[in-house]
Amino acid sequence: MPARRSPWALRRTLVLATVALITTAALVIGIVSVVSVQSILMGRIDAQLTAATSRSTDAVGPDPGQTPPGGSSSPDFIRTLGQSVGTLGAVSVDGTIVAAAYLDSNLNSPVLTGRQVAELQDAHIGSAPTTVYLGATLGNYRAVALKLDSHVSIIVGLPLADLEATISELVLAVLAVTVTALVLAGAGAYALVRLSLRPLERVAGAATAVSSMTLDRGEVALAVRVPDADADDSTEVGRVGAAINRMLEHVSHALTARQASEDKVRRFVSDASHELRTPLASIRGYAELTRMGGQELPEDAAYALGRIESESQRMTSIVEDLLLLARLDEGRQLEREPVDLTSVVADAVSDARASAPDHSWRIADGGGAVVVLGDRQRLFQIVMNLLANARVHTPAGTNVTASVTVEGESEARRAVVTVHDDGPGIDPDLVGAVFERFARGDSSRTRATGSTGLGLAIVQGVAAAHGGAASVTSEPGSTTFRIELPLTEGAPE
Ligand SMILES: Nc1ncnc2c1ncn2[C@@H]1O[C@H](COP(=O)(O)OP(=O)(O)OP(=O)(O)O)[C@@H](O)[C@H]1O
Ligand SMILES: [Mg+2]
Repeated sequence: MPARRSPWALRRTLVLATVALITTAALVIGIVSVVSVQSILMGRIDAQLTAATSRSTDAVGPDPGQTPPGGSSSPDFIRTLGQSVGTLGAVSVDGTIVAAAYLDSNLNSPVLTGRQVAELQDAHIGSAPTTVYLGATLGNYRAVALKLDSHVSIIVGLPLADLEATISELVLAVLAVTVTALVLAGAGAYALVRLSLRPLERVAGAATAVSSMTLDRGEVALAVRVPDADADDSTEVGRVGAAINRMLEHVSHALTARQASEDKVRRFVSDASHELRTPLASIRGYAELTRMGGQELPEDAAYALGRIESESQRMTSIVEDLLLLARLDEGRQLEREPVDLTSVVADAVSDARASAPDHSWRIADGGGAVVVLGDRQRLFQIVMNLLANARVHTPAGTNVTASVTVEGESEARRAVVTVHDDGPGIDPDLVGAVFERFARGDSSRTRATGSTGLGLAIVQGVAAAHGGAASVTSEPGSTTFRIELPLTEGAPE
């Protein structure tokens, strides 16, 4: 499974990458400048050291013999004209420092402490300038040794304190500039990335709007498009936007074509059913006419006539069902008048009781009138369909109970009609598809009764046309169909 990426991944990556690049650049520039400034300054100090050394040798004079051997006096050459404050001088005889002093700011020349001398001694200073640490007071020195003769040499040093101060100031300045640049670059990159990703968000918004639309059925007006400004082929985001617009255009055409062909099929079914009504009525009429004609018919002809009548009756009811379904599909508006469901159910149950006395029919105690806005005839038909199922698909002696109740609170209040029976229940394989057209159980009993499987499709279609829904729960010994309908505002219960 791919790792889940944060929704801001791109934004964060861009900002972090910018900040990282700028940090690297600032650090490289900073380090290079510090190193080169240090080497320039060091070069300068070395040049000064050369000058100081030559002044010192001048002061010592051409004859090294004048230098007091044995280290009793301080190296006076550091006090010659031109030597700068801090200049260090030492005299070394046979490799051992015998005298060492430096020029302080009052132009005195204090002698180095034993420790400082030891540091100087340990540095083994040669003819090339060397950096040597002389303890906390004096700090780092740049020093060079010059042989005066085979025994005596002098050491001249210059303090590095100024150079070090300059370098630390430079480092501080570089750090300050780096941090400021980072903060500015971070904020700038964030704002810039936000700004440049905003069109992408609008494009995503358009795609999201489409994904929440119902496209699988009904008339679809796919009017959502990415705004022109975000569908400009000359930018990267614009190309995405333009591609999405082309795709939407394509999908929209496909949906329109789908809708047109569905409409055509529906109109065909509705026209065909309508056209079949008249010839069917004629067949029924002629059969009836012949039977009532008064002549004595042979027994088999009378039987055939009876079959013609009953089958044309059945076909008429199938055609009526198909026509109703086709009209519901077309979205044709049903009547909308106040209908009292309690009286609808009472009438239906009493009809069922009359036609099937071998079942036990009951109406659960209700709380009086439950009024919905709708088509009384169609509502009566769907309750009849449920009761007919409870009669046809259950054995004699089954108890059938119908009820009308009101459920839910305020806005969500709805009228609920239930039809419950304690028959064998619906085949578990069928239960999920029971509201689909021509879905029926294949028991021999069902076939014998000539069931078509349109009854429940009509129940659902009519309920939906009223803004409601139908559902079922079934297990052996308990099957309950439910029709939920929105309740009329302020209707009495
Ligand atoms: N109360 C019930 N008990 C058991 N099975 C049922 C019940 N109601 C419906 N069914 C099953 O559901 C199937 C579909 O019912 P539906 O009313 O849609 O069609 P039908 O009754 O077979 O035919 P039609 O109602 O069009 O004459 C039925 O064939 C039957 O198998
Ligand atoms: Mg039925």
